[in-house]
Amino acid sequence: MSRIIVILLTLVMFNRLSAADDQCLKCHETIGDNPSALFKHDIHFKRGISCADCHGGNPHLEDMEKAMDKKAGFEGVPKGDDISRVCAGCHSNPEQMKKYGSSLPANQLQNLLSSVHGKLSVTGKEHVAQCITCHGAHGIVSVKDLRSPVHPLNIVKTCTKCHANAMFMRTYNPSLPVDQLDKYRTSVHGKRNAKGDSKVAECASCHGSHNILSAKDVKSTVYPLNIPSTCAKCHSSSEYMKGFNIPTDQYEKFSKSVHGVALLQKDDMGAPACNSCHGNHGAAPPGVESISKVCGTCHAINADLFSSSPHKKAFDQRNLPECETCHSNHDIIAATNRLLGVTPEAVCSKCHSEQLSPRGYVVAKEMRLLVDSLESSEGIAKLLIEEAEQKGMEVTEAKFKLRDVHQARLQSRTMVHSFNEQQFRETIEKGLKTAAIVQTEGEFAIREYKFRRIGLGIASVVITILAISLYLFIKRIERRQRTGM
Ligand code: HEC
Ligand code: HEC
Ligand code: HEC
Ligand code: HEC
Ligand code: HEC
Ligand code: HEC
Ligand code: HEC
Ligand code: HEC
Ligand code: HEC
Ligand code: HEC
Ligand code: HEC
Repeated sequence: MSRIIVILLTLVMFNRLSAADDQCLKCHETIGDNPSALFKHDIHFKRGISCADCHGGNPHLEDMEKAMDKKAGFEGVPKGDDISRVCAGCHSNPEQMKKYGSSLPANQLQNLLSSVHGKLSVTGKEHVAQCITCHGAHGIVSVKDLRSPVHPLNIVKTCTKCHANAMFMRTYNPSLPVDQLDKYRTSVHGKRNAKGDSKVAECASCHGSHNILSAKDVKSTVYPLNIPSTCAKCHSSSEYMKGFNIPTDQYEKFSKSVHGVALLQKDDMGAPACNSCHGNHGAAPPGVESISKVCGTCHAINADLFSSSPHKKAFDQRNLPECETCHSNHDIIAATNRLLGVTPEAVCSKCHSEQLSPRGYVVAKEMRLLVDSLESSEGIAKLLIEEAEQKGMEVTEAKFKLRDVHQARLQSRTMVHSFNEQQFRETIEKGLKTAAIVQTEGEFAIREYKFRRIGLGIASVVITILAISLYLFIKRIERRQRTGM
């Protein structure tokens, strides 16, 4: 008898009882309500957790009044922030969780409260989201279970309950877009997710779950500097991407590219992250049609010039992507004049040769010659100005002009994209003309310096002769005075 009491007491203390002993469940089942029906496949039920662990009350009493008496600790239906508090009673308490043999992290409430969803709701009385907003209250299953509302195949619906509800979202932030679902469904991720592929990215794989932050927060997984590693979680893992027939080198290449170095090493927020080219929710490889538009959002002049160049039609006809054909996509390197011309390393020689496509060949060769001549003229002009400056000559004016020469060189790099010899030549010649002026001014300053050196030499000889004469003259006067005495 006393042994039975001890066992009962232990059960009461840890609030763990078998389903048959849970009077709350038993009675509610006979009523046939939803909570008790759903609870039968709830992970909490399977861990021996009772209705009373969340609602309070005494699960050992058959009498309804006594079981659900305030004196027995019955709290009724939790509302507002009390809901998450009930869940956190176990989930934020590692000791408690260990009693159930669980080693799950115990940070959900803490993370939730510091996330965007931990803001106060419009009523000001509770936080935007409670645990049950995403997990439900009864019938909770493992997050890996297909029935879980946070399973990759269901999470989209769970998040967009709110995020696709314009009326609701407007009460919080009228400027926040509500088109994530629509866009997502046009993406490769979204299309495959709708077909039951649980490996593609869904809302939580890019944004996180309890720790979701505003995209503008530097700690957000979708803050520009963090996006490449967010995408790389999957896209750089050949293990994870096994079975999909696409490369897994995008991050590696990107991080070494001009764009990647600018973004990841120099924190240059003007440089593109993965989503600048692929879209946020519309993540798709930019198609042949849209690549120049993607690049053109930042490199507008290059894109404009390309559009009216002979390559526009030629590339369209051959279904060649516009910028990518010459620059690639993920491993774009700094552009130099070596890309231009008919040497093996030049991109033009991929398609133009003396035999095939000779017109382009001739122009490519000529453009390179023009660039080379401008670069060497600029070099000579620069050396002359430096020499003059070292000699202390005034060359401020010429240095300004030297900048114009460099500007012309920079313009010519962009002007390449006209693929038009005449237009290109005009830009180069402007630079060549200024370079010639600077060269002349440099040479003049150096000549002037030499001239002044000679002039100075003559002057000092004259002064020395004068000084000696004066000395001798004074000596003579002194001698005369002495003999005169
Ligand atoms: C003998 C039957 C019986 C037992 C035992 C019983 N309940 Fe109930 N419970 C009911 C009935 C019937 C209602 C609905 C009555 C009502 O609407 O006031 C109810 C209502 C509730 C509600 C909703 C209250 C509200 O304010 O809407 C909760 C929560 C609840 N029970 C939890 C429990 C828990 C926890 C236990 C065990 C500690 C328990 N019940 C034990 C029959 C029972
Ligand atoms: C893991 C915690 C938890 C457990 C276990 C739990 N509930 Fe609940 N229950 C809640 C929460 C939270 C709400 C509030 C739901 C809401 O606001 O939508 C709720 C609401 C209810 C309600 C009122 C609203 C409704 O959905 O009808 C009843 C009745 C209820 N629970 C009964 C039960 C019964 C009976 C059991 C056991 C079979 C049980 N609950 C087990 C957390 C729990
Ligand atoms: C905005 C939706 C959302 C809210 C609110 C939310 N969760 Fe989650 N929760 C998720 C998602 C999504 C996952 C799955 C995460 C994954 O697979 O990486 C998850 C996973 C979990 C897990 C599994 C272990 C883990 O940490 O990944 C537990 C336990 C959990 N949530 C408890 C809670 C509790 C307790 C609360 C309230 C404090 C809560 N959740 C609030 C979305 C939410
Ligand atoms: C009495 C303690 C207790 C309370 C209260 C409680 N949980 Fe749990 N919960 C557990 C235990 C134990 C597990 C099983 C953990 C395991 O399998 O490692 C669990 C599992 C879960 C899981 C599944 C995690 C996974 O492994 O995928 C979710 C989601 C969850 N709880 C959410 C909630 C929510 C939401 C509430 C509040 C409405 C809540 N829990 C209240 C103890 C509790
Ligand atoms: C209960 C409704 C609700 C649910 C469910 C919900 N959210 Fe939110 N979410 C909001 C509200 C409200 C805001 C805050 C808007 C504001 O004040 O700027 C927000 C903010 C955000 C933001 C920050 C937007 C920004 O850049 O400012 C992101 C990202 C976000 N939610 C993603 C998610 C994801 C992912 C899920 C699913 C795991 C989810 N949300 C589920 C209501 C919800
Ligand atoms: C492939 C990754 C990815 C997926 C999947 C994804 N997002 Fe986003 N999301 C982003 C990025 C990147 C941004 C940041 C945009 C920026 O910098 O302005 C963003 C921004 C947001 C914002 C802020 C407002 C906006 O639209 O710019 C919300 C809200 C949001 N996402 C919700 C969701 C929801 C809900 C889902 C699921 C339907 C989802 N996201 C799926 C990457 C993703
Ligand atoms: C949860 C893992 C995961 C994350 C995170 C993820 N992706 Fe994906 N992504 C996939 C999988 C799986 C595919 C399907 C591969 C296929 O198309 O065969 C895919 C497909 C794509 C495709 C289409 C590839 C093609 O040609 O079919 C693009 C583009 C893409 N992702 C870009 C991104 C970008 C950009 C991000 C970050 C903002 C990102 N992904 C984040 C898993 C992920
Ligand atoms: C400067 C623009 C740009 C950036 C930045 C960029 N991509 Fe791409 N990406 C492209 C283009 C263009 C394609 C090829 C489209 C085609 O040929 O149809 C592509 C193709 C892809 C594909 C399809 C498979 C493949 O490799 O061809 C995936 C996946 C992908 N990118 C992921 C990423 C990820 C992840 C990042 C960030 C680490 C990223 N991209 C950064 C422009 C970009
Ligand atoms: C037929 C090959 C080819 C195509 C197509 C092409 N480029 Fe270029 N691009 C070059 C060459 C060659 C250079 C280097 C010129 C130099 O340094 O003299 C260059 C240089 C650049 C530069 C650096 C110079 C500057 O303007 O700042 C950018 C940026 C650039 N290209 C962007 C683009 C974009 C955007 C597109 C698509 C609209 C594109 N390119 C299409 C060959 C090409
Ligand atoms: C979000 C804006 C953005 C987008 C989109 C973008 N770029 Fe860039 N790009 C930059 C910035 C910023 C730099 C300068 C990086 C640095 O050197 O600091 C750059 C540098 C370059 C360079 C090297 C220029 C040089 O001076 O050597 C080339 C070539 C280039 N981009 C081509 C492309 C192509 C091709 C695309 C499309 C596939 C593209 N970019 C898309 C912003 C962008
Ligand atoms: C991907 C292949 C490809 C590359 C790379 C390429 N071109 Fe072309 N180009 C063509 C095609 C195709 C035409 C259409 C006329 C033809 O077939 O010769 C053309 C036409 C031209 C024309 C106009 C010829 C005329 O008939 O008036 C010029 C000029 C030209 N290219 C210059 C260049 C230069 C300079 C480069 C290197 C920066 C270059 N191309 C790189 C494929 C290419």
